[in-house]
Amino acid sequence: MEFLEVLKRRKTTNGPFLDKPVAKEHQRLLMEAASRAPSHFNSQPWRFVLIEDPAKRECIAEIGGRTMRQLIADGRFFERYRRYFRFSPKEMEEKRDGILIDHLPALLRPFTRQAMRPWATRLLRLLRVPEILGEDNRRLVAASPLLLAALLDKDEYRPGELSGFYSLLALGMAIENIWLTTVELGMGIQFISTPMEIPEAWEEVKRLLEVPENLELMALYRLGYLPPEPPRPRIDWQSHQRKRLSQFVFRDSCATPEED
Ligand SMILES: Cc1cc2nc3c(=O)[nH]c(=O)nc-3n(C[C@H](O)[C@H](O)[C@H](O)COP(=O)(O)O)c2cc1C
Repeated sequence: MEFLEVLKRRKTTNGPFLDKPVAKEHQRLLMEAASRAPSHFNSQPWRFVLIEDPAKRECIAEIGGRTMRQLIADGRFFERYRRYFRFSPKEMEEKRDGILIDHLPALLRPFTRQAMRPWATRLLRLLRVPEILGEDNRRLVAASPLLLAALLDKDEYRPGELSGFYSLLALGMAIENIWLTTVELGMGIQFISTPMEIPEAWEEVKRLLEVPENLELMALYRLGYLPPEPPRPRIDWQSHQRKRLSQFVFRDSCATPEED
């Protein structure tokens, strides 16, 4: 595929993957792509765990579903992330960032905006939104043939120091390389972020993956091959919009936005 076409097509996969193991050669290619990323002094501070073992995937799926349910039910999720939610194409067109909630069960549609208000946690619970999102997330993760843990070497990843910042940049670039390579391979990828938002759950994942003292577990992903026409999750969003040049690029100094 043309490189610029790959860039344009790269996206987050919210839906299910095919029930088909990821070929070993593709797993190797993804890791090779990661290792091609730049890093400070070629330190290559990233480490990865490829997780195919069904029992481990099931366990991570359970933790993912449970943490999603908890974060929604106790209001933390919307409290933290309310500012990124858009509820109409018009709102999205104006802001051109965030995520547009465009797919909901009919029962929930009249309540969407209210559901984001701080007082609405009880309403969400009444409508069983935490259970819907938690269970959908558990199923999606459990049915993903490959999970990927991204870690950093603590000799390099020292938060608060420059090398901590450099390591994060390097890991971000390595992950982007993996993400771009999935496009070429007909695969999809999605962050599994809720376990890291609840420290005890993150500890559970670390134990499961036997993360040693010298490594820091940074992120989890699910990967697999994309079905030709993936069904959408019950509650879903889209985020392909991007800001205009004038909204994020300047010319010569921050005083002059670039023209569109
Ligand atoms: C640091 C970071 C955290 C993210 N967390 C999540 C997440 O928890 N769940 C998810 O589905 N996507 C997550 N994403 C993906 C973004 O939502 C996505 O990249 C953004 O909405 C743009 O959509 P696109 O990737 O399809 O272009 C994350 C991305 C980054 C870089």
